[in-house]
Amino acid sequence: MANVTVIGAQWGDEGKGKIVDWLASRADAVVRFQGGHNAGHTLVIDGNVYKLSLLPSGIVSGTLSIIGNGVVLDPWALKAEVEKLEGQGVTINADNLALADNCPVILPIHRDLDGLREAAAGSGKIGTTGRGIGPAYEDKVGRRAIRVCDLAHLDHLEPQLDRLCAHHDALRAGFDQPPVDREALLEELRGIADFVLHFAQPVWKRLKKVRKAGAKILFEGAQGVLLDIDHGTYPFVTSSNTVSGTAAAGSGLGPNSTGYVLGIVKAYTTRVGSGPFPTELEDEVGKGIGERGHEFGTVTGRQRRVGWFDAVIVRQSCSISGVTGIALTKIDVLDGLDEVKICTGYRLRGNVYDYFPSHAADQAEVEPIYETMDGWKESTAGARSFADLPANAVKYIQRVQELIETPVALVSTSPERDDTILMRDPFLD
Ligand code: GDP
Ligand code: IMO
Ligand code: MG
Repeated sequence: MANVTVIGAQWGDEGKGKIVDWLASRADAVVRFQGGHNAGHTLVIDGNVYKLSLLPSGIVSGTLSIIGNGVVLDPWALKAEVEKLEGQGVTINADNLALADNCPVILPIHRDLDGLREAAAGSGKIGTTGRGIGPAYEDKVGRRAIRVCDLAHLDHLEPQLDRLCAHHDALRAGFDQPPVDREALLEELRGIADFVLHFAQPVWKRLKKVRKAGAKILFEGAQGVLLDIDHGTYPFVTSSNTVSGTAAAGSGLGPNSTGYVLGIVKAYTTRVGSGPFPTELEDEVGKGIGERGHEFGTVTGRQRRVGWFDAVIVRQSCSISGVTGIALTKIDVLDGLDEVKICTGYRLRGNVYDYFPSHAADQAEVEPIYETMDGWKESTAGARSFADLPANAVKYIQRVQELIETPVALVSTSPERDDTILMRDPFLD
């Protein structure tokens, strides 16, 4: 299998960016296929830190980077990110960045709506990233969206804009907000159109060419399976399908092209935003793991909630996403603990569950059943060979592998690109 699809198998922030950047040197193209600038992927290369939200993580290594049609694109966020990375010495041009011309556009009115709804929901809020992701996807499926290709025809946009604004004006009125200022919106679009159109093209054609040439394609998922609109902890999810199957629809290549599915799995669990989290730790142990793991959001700076490794949800994610092998990240963050716990099942109203039930109330109520293992005092930080790992860390990894019924292909031992242990090469498997 020449191609690899990378997805998060928990609630996001598993370290996808680091692994995609590392794998990108073996690939000819990296493709984002869902989500938007709600994603936050941090890469560390020789001590230099790169934070990406919208650009594929292959961009830093100079690999052809493609934003597929499944992404919702905020043009102003794209421009800001391109300029920020150029400021860090990364070359970005129409040769190494391609943008699907059928991507729906995130407009300021989407961000407004996201914020208004969250504020109105009070303690029931989802805890979104506030980037307008949900409202933009709603307009896409509602067949009202402005798409990238529309930016080349701004003088003919009026009927489309009328339909879109009629919808938003009604929603805004419910929040006591004035109607959309259409002229101002059009002016903003006129100001950004050329920048976006410079990269825009039918990317399915570009990918067809890449594929025909026998090139290796790396599909880069954002978020994680537990945030998937269908399979996640609904309604505390994002508004796209984050599972591996989306790689095909969100890029314009068939499902026979998406190859090996690499699930990225953190050695413990984190979540940012509201929603159920069975193994959450609200004690000193959790605080310590959060501090050692620097668990603060790349996008919003919010503190991430922290908990023990939950083998039930990861086993479920691996099954739902057809994961071939996993990359286990941040094992170094567990260094120094006396003991480590793994959730192997749940208890709910006297019954034992080996899966995460679908209903939100059940998800909130399940009690984890833990297995306790001895920790390790030695450091795993920066290890680049499996033989360098302490015996108890190896036991932990093996137990994780057994419980999730999926092999470990890679282990990551620090934020640095090369602090990565390769056990099975996904591009060769
Ligand atoms: P993503 O959204 O899945 O790409 O993950 P984020 O980049 O949001 O969060 C993962 C964080 O952990 C980033 O700050 C990475 O630099 C860092 N990281 C990735 N892998 C490792 C690792 O193996 N060990 C440690 N300590 N940090 C890591
Ligand atoms: P990466 O790619 C972690 C979460 C938000 C919120 C929910 C909905 O870095 O792993 P949205 O703005 O998408 O409508 O928010 O989803 N969320 C993420 N959590 N990592 C992400 O991306 C996330 N993207 C969205 O916190 O709970
Ligand atoms: Mg992230």
